[in-house]
Amino acid sequence: MFEHLSSLPPDPILGLLASYRADDNPNKIDLGVGVYKDEAGHTAVLQAVKEAETRLLQSEETKAYIGPAGTPGFNTAMQELILGAEHPALLAGRVRSAQTPGGCGALRVLAEFTNRAKAGATIWVSDPTWANHVPLLGNAGLQIKSYPYYDRATSSLRFDAMVETLKNVGEGDLVLFHACCHNPCGADLSREQWQVLAEMAQKQGFTPFIDMAYQGFGDSLDDDAWGLRLMAESVPEMLVAASCSKNFGLYRERVGLAMVIYNNGADADKGQSQMLNVVRGNYSMPPSHGAAIVESILTDAGLKANWEAELTEMRERINGLRSGVVESLAAAGAAGDFSFIQRQKGMFSFLGITPEQVQRLQKEYSIYMVDSSRISIAGLSQTNMEYFCKAVASIL
Ligand code: LMR
Repeated sequence: MFEHLSSLPPDPILGLLASYRADDNPNKIDLGVGVYKDEAGHTAVLQAVKEAETRLLQSEETKAYIGPAGTPGFNTAMQELILGAEHPALLAGRVRSAQTPGGCGALRVLAEFTNRAKAGATIWVSDPTWANHVPLLGNAGLQIKSYPYYDRATSSLRFDAMVETLKNVGEGDLVLFHACCHNPCGADLSREQWQVLAEMAQKQGFTPFIDMAYQGFGDSLDDDAWGLRLMAESVPEMLVAASCSKNFGLYRERVGLAMVIYNNGADADKGQSQMLNVVRGNYSMPPSHGAAIVESILTDAGLKANWEAELTEMRERINGLRSGVVESLAAAGAAGDFSFIQRQKGMFSFLGITPEQVQRLQKEYSIYMVDSSRISIAGLSQTNMEYFCKAVASIL
């Protein structure tokens, strides 16, 4: 039966890794997948994670199943990190969550869960959005439509066009927002813009679905959650998919949270039974190790302070690189204004070059980035900055 299957092209993001690894150019640069790297190009395990892991090894007494919802301690700590401990939705007992295998697991569980509430519901995603949103949400049965978000010509938000499209979206539809550090474009909504969107959600009745994959990588843990928290105060129902891959550096451990805010506690109990049933029918229950590390960090004041300091260091390094690359591109004589890179947030920005120019950078200089010209800023360093900027200047 399998002879009828055709081969698919490599994943547009993950496929780059294989080509990068096979490249023997000593000057090669990986700006593909969104993984934080230090100045030496290394993705180290955070010290707070190492410490939590050491403690866990000593204290862990069982490897018995943890159940479809995961560990209550992790879920509570994450809800508080995302919403703030005093958020009205939490205090009113309207929030339920499940620990998931990464942010992808959360997106998929929430999509299937929504599809049970309304089969084939429409979800509006930003144009552009993270490529994997489409299969994660669409394969679960949701219909995907897009709203304008980013203007490549001006490297800025198309907020008016976004509002124009969303003003016709009403009850029964979902709208996917990136909480912060938009992937792939790095252009985030301002507080005023979040306010407009929260009012629209409230008046029109659409359900916000927020992807929070980079909390702490934009401005700070609280600032990055500002829009999400406002939205959660404004609407009766909302979905959040959160990831611990980046902010805890736990990429391969697969740690995430699927969180739903309900209209009331009774809906929350019914809804949670459905969500856990979705989990049971997919992967039965989440892996434990990574979430146990996060729980241990978030519930220990000392470890939490250490983790926050490490997160700040990662954020500041990326922000420094953002300024650095703007200056170095100018110094290398690169044609055009790249100052938008400095204004954008998080791991990514579009360089704004054509797919052909992206291919030239790869072939002629061994510089790897997604075809859309999305660069993962942390792949730059003081060592490779000049090489990168001269290469870009040469292909422009
Ligand atoms: C990315 O966008 O590079 C990351 O979110 C990793 C991934 O799985 O695509």
